[in-house]
Amino acid sequence: MTLDDMKRAAARAAIAFVPDNCVVGVGTGSTANHFIDALAEIKGRIEGAVASSEGSAARLKSHGIPVFDLNAVDRVPVYIDGADEINHYLHMIKGGGAALTREKIVAAVAEQFICVADHTKRVDILGTFPLPVEVIPMARSHVARELVKLGGRPVYREGVVTDNGNVILDVHGLRIAEPATLEGEINQIVGVVTSGLFARRRADVLLLGTESGVETFR
Ligand code: A5P
Repeated sequence: MTLDDMKRAAARAAIAFVPDNCVVGVGTGSTANHFIDALAEIKGRIEGAVASSEGSAARLKSHGIPVFDLNAVDRVPVYIDGADEINHYLHMIKGGGAALTREKIVAAVAEQFICVADHTKRVDILGTFPLPVEVIPMARSHVARELVKLGGRPVYREGVVTDNGNVILDVHGLRIAEPATLEGEINQIVGVVTSGLFARRRADVLLLGTESGVETFR
């Protein structure tokens, strides 16, 4: 079984968490893409979706699934998305695909966050995967200096502009013992839009694709 098979299995298992007649929150990335493909098979029993990126919106529409503006939606009962790392408390690093800010917004609105991932994403301590931080372009150098003070080594993600018109700094060398504290500290830096730390709004459920099937953690 390949890692992609495990991602697909986890994504397909998330369909069981989708209530009838709802607007589903849909994330971004290769695992979320598998979820979108599975969602297409049950599109007759949902109202539609809100998407955390232009890329996911396009994939949803290509399957004939209506995509709503988040401001036009009263409730998002469930949000399904992948992660770059997830710990035992279901805190995550996200944003490898540069969609972290919209992911955080949809996750904040959603009543339940279901993380879908292959087993390589599970870690004891977050931080081996460089932490993405979305930054207003004119603040890039200032934010980088502040991130160095927090113990990180920020690297500008060359050539990437987010769906919101901003840039990404990937912060290397962090060993994140207290994710919620660091999330707050980074969010306080002027010029930061948001960080890819999802600790204050963690996942509620993790569906982890493994060699022996999909394991559920809460
Ligand atoms: C997108 O910005 C990310 O948060 C993704 O959810 C994360 O990178 C996981 O991606 P894969 O499902 O492709 O591993």
